[in-house]
Amino acid sequence: MMHAAVLHAFGQAPRFEEFPEPTPGEGEVLVRVTAAALTPLARWVASDRDFARGREVPFICGTEGVGELADGSRVSFGVVRAPYGAMAEYAVAPQRLCTPIPDEVDDVTAASMMNPAVSSWNALAFGAKLVPGETLLVLGATGVAGQVAIQVARLLGAGRVVAAGRDERVLARLAENGADAVIPLGQSDVDLAEAFRRAAGEEGYQVVLDYLWGRPAQVLLDALPRRFMVSREVRYLQLGNSAGSTISLHANALRRTGVTLGAGSPPPITQLQELYAQVMTHAANGNLRVDRDPVALADVESAWQRVVSGRRTVVIP
Ligand SMILES: NC(=O)c1ccc[n+]([C@@H]2O[C@H](COP(=O)([O-])OP(=O)(O)OC[C@H]3O[C@@H](n4cnc5c(N)ncnc54)[C@H](OP(=O)(O)O)[C@@H]3O)[C@@H](O)[C@H]2O)c1
Repeated sequence: MMHAAVLHAFGQAPRFEEFPEPTPGEGEVLVRVTAAALTPLARWVASDRDFARGREVPFICGTEGVGELADGSRVSFGVVRAPYGAMAEYAVAPQRLCTPIPDEVDDVTAASMMNPAVSSWNALAFGAKLVPGETLLVLGATGVAGQVAIQVARLLGAGRVVAAGRDERVLARLAENGADAVIPLGQSDVDLAEAFRRAAGEEGYQVVLDYLWGRPAQVLLDALPRRFMVSREVRYLQLGNSAGSTISLHANALRRTGVTLGAGSPPPITQLQELYAQVMTHAANGNLRVDRDPVALADVESAWQRVVSGRRTVVIP
Protein backbone atom coordinates (compact mmCIF):
# COMPACT_ATOMS: atom_id res chain seq x y z
CA MET A 1 0.00 0.00 0.00
CA MET A 2 1.03 3.64 -0.47
CA HIS A 3 -0.29 7.07 0.48
CA ALA A 4 -2.31 8.99 -2.10
CA ALA A 5 -4.88 11.78 -2.70
CA VAL A 6 -7.99 9.67 -3.28
CA LEU A 7 -11.19 11.10 -4.75
CA HIS A 8 -14.39 9.45 -3.51
CA ALA A 9 -17.02 11.77 -4.99
CA PHE A 10 -16.91 14.09 -8.00
CA GLY A 11 -16.88 17.74 -6.98
CA GLN A 12 -15.38 17.06 -3.55
CA ALA A 13 -11.78 17.33 -2.35
CA PRO A 14 -9.63 14.18 -2.40
CA ARG A 15 -8.61 12.58 0.92
CA PHE A 16 -5.14 11.52 2.10
CA GLU A 17 -5.49 7.75 2.35
CA GLU A 18 -3.85 4.41 1.66
CA PHE A 19 -4.28 2.94 -1.83
CA PRO A 20 -2.74 -0.13 -3.51
CA GLU A 21 0.57 0.55 -5.27
CA PRO A 22 0.38 0.44 -9.09
CA THR A 23 2.13 -2.13 -11.25
CA PRO A 24 3.36 -0.87 -14.62
CA GLY A 25 1.72 -2.39 -17.70
CA GLU A 26 3.00 -2.65 -21.27
CA GLY A 27 4.92 0.50 -22.26
CA GLU A 28 4.63 1.97 -18.76
CA VAL A 29 7.17 2.76 -16.05
CA LEU A 30 6.84 3.01 -12.27
CA VAL A 31 7.66 6.50 -10.97
CA ARG A 32 8.48 7.38 -7.35
CA VAL A 33 6.67 10.71 -7.27
CA THR A 34 8.46 13.72 -5.77
CA ALA A 35 6.09 16.57 -6.81
CA ALA A 36 2.70 16.96 -8.53
CA ALA A 37 1.07 20.26 -9.50
CA LEU A 38 -2.52 21.02 -8.55
CA THR A 39 -3.54 22.41 -11.95
CA PRO A 40 -6.98 23.51 -13.17
CA LEU A 41 -6.92 20.32 -15.28
CA ALA A 42 -6.47 18.16 -12.16
CA ARG A 43 -9.41 19.98 -10.52
CA TRP A 44 -11.48 19.67 -13.67
CA VAL A 45 -11.00 15.89 -13.93
CA ALA A 46 -12.07 15.58 -10.28
CA SER A 47 -15.02 17.94 -10.61
CA ASP A 48 -17.48 16.00 -12.75
CA ARG A 49 -17.82 12.51 -14.26
CA ASP A 50 -18.20 14.08 -17.75
CA PHE A 51 -14.68 15.56 -17.50
CA ALA A 52 -13.09 12.51 -15.86
CA ARG A 53 -12.12 10.82 -19.14
CA GLY A 54 -13.73 7.51 -18.15
CA ARG A 55 -12.45 7.45 -14.57
CA GLU A 56 -14.77 6.12 -11.88
CA VAL A 57 -14.34 6.94 -8.19
CA PRO A 58 -12.35 6.10 -6.20
CA PHE A 59 -9.30 7.28 -8.14
CA ILE A 60 -6.07 9.12 -7.39
CA CYS A 61 -5.99 12.80 -8.41
CA GLY A 62 -3.29 14.55 -10.41
CA THR A 63 -2.68 14.40 -14.16
CA GLU A 64 1.05 15.16 -14.28
CA GLY A 65 4.05 15.12 -11.98
CA VAL A 66 7.76 14.78 -11.41
CA GLY A 67 9.58 11.80 -9.97
CA GLU A 68 12.35 9.24 -10.07
CA LEU A 69 12.56 6.10 -12.22
CA ALA A 70 14.10 2.81 -11.04
CA ASP A 71 17.49 3.82 -12.52
CA GLY A 72 17.52 7.02 -10.43
CA SER A 73 16.86 9.39 -13.35
CA ARG A 74 14.47 12.33 -12.75
CA VAL A 75 11.57 12.83 -15.14
CA SER A 76 8.39 14.79 -15.67
CA PHE A 77 5.52 12.50 -16.48
CA GLY A 78 1.91 12.54 -17.61
CA VAL A 79 -0.54 10.04 -16.13
CA VAL A 80 -3.23 8.40 -18.21
CA ARG A 81 -4.22 5.09 -16.57
CA ALA A 82 -7.00 5.27 -14.00
CA PRO A 83 -7.37 4.72 -11.10
CA TYR A 84 -3.79 5.95 -10.65
CA GLY A 85 -2.76 9.59 -10.57
CA ALA A 86 0.23 11.81 -9.85
CA MET A 87 -0.69 12.74 -6.26
CA ALA A 88 0.65 9.59 -4.65
CA GLU A 89 3.90 8.05 -3.51
CA TYR A 90 4.02 6.02 -6.73
CA ALA A 91 2.48 6.46 -10.18
CA VAL A 92 2.58 4.60 -13.46
CA ALA A 93 3.19 6.59 -16.62
CA PRO A 94 3.60 5.72 -20.29
CA GLN A 95 7.33 5.71 -21.06
CA ARG A 96 6.63 8.06 -24.01
CA LEU A 97 5.18 10.68 -21.62
CA CYS A 98 8.35 10.79 -19.47
CA THR A 99 10.79 13.62 -20.15
CA PRO A 100 14.18 14.10 -18.44
CA ILE A 101 14.68 17.02 -16.06
CA PRO A 102 18.07 18.79 -16.02
CA ASP A 103 20.01 18.73 -12.70
CA GLU A 104 19.76 22.54 -12.39
CA VAL A 105 15.94 22.44 -12.10
CA ASP A 106 14.43 21.34 -8.78
CA ASP A 107 11.37 19.09 -8.58
CA VAL A 108 8.89 21.78 -7.50
CA THR A 109 9.97 24.13 -10.29
CA ALA A 110 9.70 21.36 -12.88
CA ALA A 111 6.26 20.31 -11.63
CA SER A 112 4.88 23.85 -11.55
CA MET A 113 6.24 24.75 -14.99
CA MET A 114 5.13 21.82 -17.12
CA ASN A 115 1.45 22.65 -17.79
CA PRO A 116 1.53 26.46 -18.11
CA ALA A 117 4.84 26.83 -19.94
CA VAL A 118 4.49 24.02 -22.47
CA SER A 119 0.92 25.03 -23.31
CA SER A 120 1.64 28.75 -23.71
CA TRP A 121 4.82 28.09 -25.72
CA ASN A 122 2.85 25.78 -27.98
CA ALA A 123 0.00 28.28 -28.30
CA LEU A 124 2.24 31.24 -29.11
CA ALA A 125 4.87 29.61 -31.30
CA PHE A 126 2.79 27.01 -33.16
CA GLY A 127 -0.87 27.98 -32.64
CA ALA A 128 -0.67 31.75 -33.12
CA LYS A 129 2.69 31.68 -34.94
CA LEU A 130 3.73 34.84 -33.09
CA VAL A 131 6.14 36.94 -35.13
CA PRO A 132 8.77 38.99 -33.23
CA GLY A 133 7.57 42.56 -32.75
CA GLU A 134 3.85 41.71 -32.70
CA THR A 135 1.43 42.91 -30.00
CA LEU A 136 -0.11 40.26 -27.73
CA LEU A 137 -3.09 40.55 -25.39
CA VAL A 138 -3.33 37.98 -22.58
CA LEU A 139 -6.84 37.60 -21.13
CA GLY A 140 -6.45 36.01 -17.69
CA ALA A 141 -2.90 37.25 -17.18
CA THR A 142 -3.14 37.00 -13.37
CA GLY A 143 -3.45 33.19 -13.46
CA VAL A 144 -0.39 30.97 -13.49
CA ALA A 145 -0.85 30.16 -17.19
CA GLY A 146 -1.27 33.84 -18.11
CA GLN A 147 1.77 34.92 -16.12
CA VAL A 148 3.94 32.30 -17.77
CA ALA A 149 2.52 33.21 -21.20
CA ILE A 150 3.81 36.76 -20.73
CA GLN A 151 7.31 35.46 -19.98
CA VAL A 152 7.21 33.06 -22.93
CA ALA A 153 6.01 35.86 -25.23
CA ARG A 154 9.04 37.92 -24.20
CA LEU A 155 11.36 35.00 -24.96
CA LEU A 156 9.72 34.65 -28.39
CA GLY A 157 10.27 38.34 -29.15
CA ALA A 158 6.78 39.84 -28.72
CA GLY A 159 6.84 43.61 -29.30
CA ARG A 160 4.16 44.68 -26.80
CA VAL A 161 2.41 42.55 -24.22
CA VAL A 162 -0.89 43.74 -22.73
CA ALA A 163 -2.05 41.87 -19.62
CA ALA A 164 -5.72 41.81 -18.58
CA GLY A 165 -6.81 40.19 -15.31
CA ARG A 166 -9.07 40.39 -12.28
CA ASP A 167 -6.87 40.41 -9.17
CA GLU A 168 -5.42 43.92 -9.01
CA ARG A 169 -2.59 43.00 -6.60
CA VAL A 170 -1.29 40.38 -9.00
CA LEU A 171 -1.92 42.68 -11.96
CA ALA A 172 0.28 45.35 -10.36
CA ARG A 173 3.19 42.87 -10.25
CA LEU A 174 2.90 41.81 -13.87
CA ALA A 175 5.13 44.56 -15.21
CA GLU A 176 8.01 42.66 -13.52
CA ASN A 177 7.12 39.67 -15.71
CA GLY A 178 7.31 41.71 -18.88
CA ALA A 179 3.84 43.27 -19.36
CA ASP A 180 3.88 46.69 -21.06
CA ALA A 181 0.33 47.59 -20.05
CA VAL A 182 -2.22 46.13 -17.64
CA ILE A 183 -6.01 46.19 -17.82
CA PRO A 184 -8.10 45.50 -14.69
CA LEU A 185 -11.22 43.51 -15.57
CA GLY A 186 -13.23 44.91 -12.65
CA GLN A 187 -14.56 47.96 -14.54
CA SER A 188 -17.82 48.56 -16.34
CA ASP A 189 -18.23 47.00 -19.79
CA VAL A 190 -17.95 50.45 -21.40
CA ASP A 191 -14.75 51.34 -19.54
CA LEU A 192 -13.26 47.89 -20.13
CA ALA A 193 -13.97 48.13 -23.87
CA GLU A 194 -12.28 51.54 -23.94
CA ALA A 195 -9.28 50.16 -22.01
CA PHE A 196 -8.92 47.30 -24.53
CA ARG A 197 -9.02 49.80 -27.42
CA ARG A 198 -6.56 52.21 -25.80
CA ALA A 199 -4.03 49.51 -24.90
CA ALA A 200 -4.13 48.11 -28.45
CA GLY A 201 -2.44 51.25 -29.81
CA GLU A 202 -2.40 52.21 -33.49
CA GLU A 203 -1.51 48.76 -34.80
CA GLY A 204 -4.03 46.77 -32.72
CA TYR A 205 -3.54 43.28 -31.31
CA GLN A 206 -2.10 40.68 -33.64
CA VAL A 207 -2.46 37.81 -31.14
CA VAL A 208 -4.86 37.20 -28.23
CA LEU A 209 -4.36 34.35 -25.74
CA ASP A 210 -7.63 33.85 -23.89
CA TYR A 211 -7.69 31.81 -20.66
CA LEU A 212 -11.05 33.26 -19.55
CA TRP A 213 -13.81 33.40 -22.18
CA GLY A 214 -17.10 34.65 -20.58
CA ARG A 215 -17.61 38.39 -20.03
CA PRO A 216 -14.01 39.57 -20.69
CA ALA A 217 -13.95 37.81 -24.08
CA GLN A 218 -17.39 39.14 -24.96
CA VAL A 219 -16.41 42.74 -24.15
CA LEU A 220 -13.13 42.42 -26.05
CA LEU A 221 -14.68 40.91 -29.19
CA ASP A 222 -17.36 43.62 -29.19
CA ALA A 223 -14.68 46.31 -28.72
CA LEU A 224 -12.36 45.39 -31.58
CA PRO A 225 -12.52 47.94 -34.39
CA ARG A 226 -14.85 46.90 -37.26
CA ARG A 227 -13.96 47.70 -40.83
CA PHE A 228 -15.71 46.98 -44.10
CA MET A 229 -12.42 45.94 -45.70
CA VAL A 230 -10.44 43.95 -43.17
CA SER A 231 -6.72 44.14 -43.83
CA ARG A 232 -5.31 42.72 -40.58
CA GLU A 233 -5.69 39.41 -38.82
CA VAL A 234 -6.18 39.05 -35.06
CA ARG A 235 -5.13 35.46 -34.20
CA TYR A 236 -7.33 34.67 -31.23
CA LEU A 237 -6.52 31.46 -29.32
CA GLN A 238 -9.20 30.20 -26.94
CA LEU A 239 -7.39 28.25 -24.19
CA GLY A 240 -9.51 28.33 -21.05
CA ASN A 241 -12.87 29.34 -19.64
CA SER A 242 -12.24 30.51 -16.07
CA ALA A 243 -14.73 33.38 -16.50
CA GLY A 244 -17.49 31.46 -18.29
CA SER A 245 -18.19 28.72 -20.82
CA THR A 246 -20.35 30.64 -23.25
CA ILE A 247 -20.49 34.04 -24.94
CA SER A 248 -22.75 35.58 -27.52
CA LEU A 249 -20.71 36.07 -30.68
CA HIS A 250 -21.91 38.65 -33.20
CA ALA A 251 -21.15 37.68 -36.82
CA ASN A 252 -19.41 41.02 -37.35
CA ALA A 253 -17.04 40.24 -34.48
CA LEU A 254 -15.50 37.75 -36.90
CA ARG A 255 -16.31 39.16 -40.37
CA ARG A 256 -15.38 42.80 -39.73
CA THR A 257 -12.49 42.52 -37.28
CA GLY A 258 -10.12 40.02 -38.91
CA VAL A 259 -10.44 37.71 -35.88
CA THR A 260 -9.54 34.09 -36.59
CA LEU A 261 -10.45 31.76 -33.75
CA GLY A 262 -8.25 28.79 -32.82
CA ALA A 263 -7.70 26.54 -29.84
CA GLY A 264 -3.95 25.79 -29.75
CA SER A 265 -4.34 22.01 -29.95
CA PRO A 266 -1.71 19.87 -28.19
CA PRO A 267 1.34 19.15 -30.38
CA PRO A 268 2.57 15.65 -31.30
CA ILE A 269 4.53 13.90 -28.52
CA THR A 270 7.96 14.46 -30.10
CA GLN A 271 7.29 18.20 -30.43
CA LEU A 272 5.99 18.25 -26.85
CA GLN A 273 9.23 16.73 -25.60
CA GLU A 274 11.35 19.25 -27.53
CA LEU A 275 9.20 22.04 -26.13
CA TYR A 276 9.57 20.68 -22.62
CA ALA A 277 13.37 20.54 -22.99
CA GLN A 278 13.36 24.20 -24.08
CA VAL A 279 11.17 25.18 -21.15
CA MET A 280 13.50 23.40 -18.72
CA THR A 281 16.53 25.20 -20.15
CA HIS A 282 14.82 28.55 -19.60
CA ALA A 283 13.70 27.52 -16.11
CA ALA A 284 17.30 26.57 -15.29
CA ASN A 285 18.52 29.98 -16.54
CA GLY A 286 15.88 31.82 -14.50
CA ASN A 287 14.07 33.11 -17.62
CA LEU A 288 10.81 31.39 -16.65
CA ARG A 289 9.35 31.29 -13.17
CA VAL A 290 6.14 30.40 -11.39
CA ASP A 291 5.14 31.42 -7.85
CA ARG A 292 4.35 28.17 -6.10
CA ASP A 293 3.29 26.79 -2.76
CA PRO A 294 4.60 23.31 -1.91
CA VAL A 295 2.24 21.35 0.41
CA ALA A 296 2.62 17.90 1.93
CA LEU A 297 0.48 15.14 0.42
CA ALA A 298 -0.98 14.62 3.89
CA ASP A 299 -2.48 18.15 3.64
CA VAL A 300 -3.96 17.71 0.16
CA GLU A 301 -7.59 17.93 1.30
CA SER A 302 -7.23 21.43 2.78
CA ALA A 303 -4.87 22.59 0.00
CA TRP A 304 -7.46 21.51 -2.59
CA GLN A 305 -10.02 23.87 -1.08
CA ARG A 306 -7.64 26.86 -1.04
CA VAL A 307 -7.21 28.88 -4.25
CA VAL A 308 -4.55 31.60 -4.11
CA SER A 309 -4.54 33.94 -7.09
CA GLY A 310 -1.48 33.65 -9.31
CA ARG A 311 0.25 30.83 -7.40
CA ARG A 312 0.51 27.11 -8.14
CA THR A 313 0.09 24.57 -5.36
CA VAL A 314 2.53 21.65 -5.69
CA VAL A 315 1.80 18.48 -3.73
CA ILE A 316 4.85 16.70 -2.24
CA PRO A 317 4.35 12.97 -1.39
N1 LIG B 1 -5.65 24.93 -23.23
C1 LIG B 1 -4.51 24.88 -22.56
O1 LIG B 1 -3.52 24.44 -23.07
C2 LIG B 1 -4.48 25.43 -21.16
C3 LIG B 1 -3.27 25.46 -20.45
C4 LIG B 1 -3.26 26.02 -19.17
C5 LIG B 1 -4.44 26.49 -18.61
N2 LIG B 1 -5.59 26.39 -19.33
C6 LIG B 1 -6.86 26.88 -18.79
O2 LIG B 1 -6.73 28.27 -18.56
C7 LIG B 1 -7.43 28.66 -17.39
C8 LIG B 1 -6.48 29.32 -16.41
O3 LIG B 1 -5.45 28.39 -16.03
P1 LIG B 1 -4.37 28.80 -14.93
O4 LIG B 1 -3.38 27.71 -14.88
O5 LIG B 1 -3.89 30.18 -15.15
O6 LIG B 1 -5.26 28.76 -13.62
P2 LIG B 1 -5.10 29.56 -12.26
O7 LIG B 1 -3.69 29.85 -11.98
O8 LIG B 1 -5.90 28.83 -11.26
O9 LIG B 1 -5.81 30.95 -12.56
C9 LIG B 1 -7.18 31.06 -12.79
C10 LIG B 1 -7.41 32.39 -13.49
O10 LIG B 1 -8.79 32.55 -13.76
C11 LIG B 1 -9.18 33.88 -13.37
N3 LIG B 1 -10.60 33.92 -13.12
C12 LIG B 1 -11.37 33.03 -12.46
N4 LIG B 1 -12.64 33.41 -12.49
C13 LIG B 1 -12.68 34.59 -13.17
C14 LIG B 1 -13.71 35.49 -13.53
N5 LIG B 1 -14.98 35.25 -13.22
N6 LIG B 1 -13.38 36.61 -14.22
C15 LIG B 1 -12.10 36.86 -14.56
N7 LIG B 1 -11.07 36.05 -14.24
C16 LIG B 1 -11.37 34.93 -13.56
C17 LIG B 1 -8.33 34.15 -12.17
O11 LIG B 1 -8.29 35.52 -11.95
P3 LIG B 1 -7.76 36.22 -10.61
O12 LIG B 1 -6.66 35.35 -10.06
O13 LIG B 1 -7.27 37.52 -11.12
O14 LIG B 1 -8.92 36.32 -9.69
C18 LIG B 1 -6.99 33.59 -12.67
O15 LIG B 1 -6.39 34.50 -13.56
C19 LIG B 1 -8.08 27.37 -16.87
O16 LIG B 1 -9.40 27.31 -17.41
C20 LIG B 1 -7.23 26.27 -17.45
O17 LIG B 1 -7.94 25.06 -17.58
C21 LIG B 1 -5.63 25.88 -20.57
